[in-house]
Amino acid sequence: MKKSKTILFSTIVVLSILSFNSFAQDATGQQTPWVAPPEADKLVNPLEEGKAVLDKGKAIYTAECVVCHGTYGNAETNIAESLEQKPKNFTKEDFLTQTDGAIFWKLSEGRGLMQPFKTMLTEEEIWSVVMYVKTLAQDD
Ligand code: HEC
Repeated sequence: MKKSKTILFSTIVVLSILSFNSFAQDATGQQTPWVAPPEADKLVNPLEEGKAVLDKGKAIYTAECVVCHGTYGNAETNIAESLEQKPKNFTKEDFLTQTDGAIFWKLSEGRGLMQPFKTMLTEEEIWSVVMYVKTLAQDD
């Protein structure tokens, strides 16, 4: 009885991971671009950039994001290699040219393996991480 429950649970986990992955792929298995809705672009970061805010963003990033996106934000992590749905590289042009609001929205809502962080972080915390990830490209 116990064993069959374990098997059932593992099957559910595997199936949900598989369906999460296909959610972010087109029919050829190519990862589809993740585009925030236009209204997200209108959101303005209420925080003023400064050391305290960036330190806060860095602490959250180190605890919650490094495992997939890497210390330098280039997504070169062991886990990223093994994932079918690739985490984003934050040092590339296509990431950096989007608005803070779009990044805030993606972080809040999540997609597939990327969980919706609005369930665990406050808006202020999310904005501080948005600010921090945008600085990663400058550290290269
Ligand atoms: C379990 C691995 C994982 C963790 C942990 C994780 N992410 Fe992600 N993240 C992903 C994946 C995978 C994607 C790509 C999603 C897609 O495009 O379908 C992604 C995408 C993103 C994007 C969208 C980039 C874009 O322009 O499309 C942002 C922003 C982001 N992550 C920030 C973060 C931050 C900040 C944290 C920590 C608070 C975090 N992620 C934690 C896996 C992860």
